[in-house]
Amino acid sequence: MKIEIVADAAKGCALGARLFVEKSTANPAAPLGLATGATMRGVYAELVAKGFRPRCEDVFLLDEYLGLPSGSPESFEYEIRTRFCEPLHYTGRVHVPGAGKYSGDDGPRKFEEELLRSGPIGVQLLGIGTNGHIAFNEPGSPADSLTRVVRLADETREANAQHFPPDSEIPTQAVSQGLATINRALSLVLLAFGAAKKEALVSALTEDNPIHPLRSLLGHCDLTIITDIELP
Ligand code: GLP
Repeated sequence: MKIEIVADAAKGCALGARLFVEKSTANPAAPLGLATGATMRGVYAELVAKGFRPRCEDVFLLDEYLGLPSGSPESFEYEIRTRFCEPLHYTGRVHVPGAGKYSGDDGPRKFEEELLRSGPIGVQLLGIGTNGHIAFNEPGSPADSLTRVVRLADETREANAQHFPPDSEIPTQAVSQGLATINRALSLVLLAFGAAKKEALVSALTEDNPIHPLRSLLGHCDLTIITDIELP
C-alpha cells in the first residue's frame, strides 16, 4: 500500500487523475472501474481538463441505488454519463450493477460474470463514506462479498441526501460490487479528503478490526490512498 499525503482535495484529485491516466495508458484495453460521489467529481473534472480519452470498451460502476426511476439525475449512472462519458467522448459500454440487463434477481450474478469475462479492471477509483463504506459495502461487509443487493446504513442515506432534491425519499437499498469483487481490480486508487472522512480513514488504517470495509483491501498489491488527512 502506498499513502500519498497531499495539501488539499484539489491537489489530491489532480494526483488521482494522473495515476488513473498512467495506469489506464499502460493497459489501455483493460476496463476501467468508476466510482461516484462528490470526491470523484474533482477527479473527473481533472480528466476532462487533461483531455483524457479512454481507449477501453467497457467501464464498470461500483454501485447503483435501487428503486430510482430510469434516467434519474440522482442515479450513479446519470452521474457517470454526464461527468465521465460525455465530456471524455467515451462511447463504449457502461455496466451498471442493478440496472438494465443487470436488474432483477439474477442481475448481480450476471454483472459478476461480465466482470470476469471482460476484466480484470485495470484501475479502480474508490472513495470512502463517512462511516467507512466502500462502494456500498457498509461496515461489517464480508471480505469475500460479491456483487449483491445491500441495505444502506442510515448514516449513508443522510450523507448522500445532499445529492437529492430537498424532501426526497432517499433509497434504502442499492446494488454494490462486493469487497472481493473490488479486490480483483489490478490497481486501486482511493481518495479521502476533509475532516468528515478522518475517523473512517484513520480507524480503518489503525484498528485491526474487520468491521472496517477498507481493511479487506489493505492487502491489495497495488493500492494507493490519496488523502489530505493527517495520519497518526
Ligand atoms: C457513495 C458511494 C461511494 C463513495 C461515497 C463517498 O455512497 N457509494 O462509492 O465513496 O459515496 O462519497 P463522497 O465523495 O460524496 O463523500
